[in-house]
Amino acid sequence: MTNIMTEPTPECRLESGAQLVPVGLELNRSVFFSGDESYDEQESKASSSRFMDRNVWRERAESGLLLISYSQDGTAGGFCLSYPKSSPTTKDDCWHIWLVGVLKGARRNGHWKAMLQATIQHAKNHGFSTVSISTFPDKFPAMFASLQKNNFCVDQSSLRGGSGGGKVFLKLNIQDSIL
Ligand SMILES: CC(C)(COP(=O)(O)OP(=O)(O)OC[C@H]1O[C@@H](n2cnc3c(N)ncnc32)[C@H](O)[C@@H]1OP(=O)(O)O)[C@@H](O)C(=O)NCCC(=O)NCCS
Repeated sequence: MTNIMTEPTPECRLESGAQLVPVGLELNRSVFFSGDESYDEQESKASSSRFMDRNVWRERAESGLLLISYSQDGTAGGFCLSYPKSSPTTKDDCWHIWLVGVLKGARRNGHWKAMLQATIQHAKNHGFSTVSISTFPDKFPAMFASLQKNNFCVDQSSLRGGSGGGKVFLKLNIQDSIL
């Protein structure tokens, strides 16, 4: 069953649930694998298998939260898939945002802001105090800017080693959220 989450802004409406996996996968394909974003072809092919894997999506949507954000006209504009992730070494449990994307034509209308707000609230309701996300600031500057604006902090240990191709891991202490 589709859950109507909230009406966080006049511009968009959120729905959640694992039954929305096909919608999320299609949005993911459009944002990341149809030339919208700057993945080069090789990287796209290498990544697409994992990031487009229906079983991985289903598993994470069932244990976590898959959100689809719709524009006022009813078209799907963006998706966000997050799930609870624990670190066996640090025992540091985070609600982890795995994949996010908003269609180019739907950006700057608050889709991501609404999904982030709902994700943070969901994490809080499930007893988590931290939300995490990995990103590539050079490739996704708008995402990095939005995370900094919302008080996500770069985990300095993720910068060491330099093997992640510019990937950084950020964490938000939920009580520091401005949303
Ligand atoms: C990053 C992305 C998800 C933002 O989605 P969006 O729905 O356009 O974002 P919103 O309209 O909700 O904006 C939320 C905040 O993000 C920031 N932001 C969004 N787009 C921005 C841009 N182009 N430049 C700078 N900041 C930006 C702003 O802080 C904004 O808040 P404000 O409008 O109050 O200033 C979208 O640009 C996108 O899908 N990018 C490509 C895919 C991607 O980066 N995925 C994440 C990979 S880790």
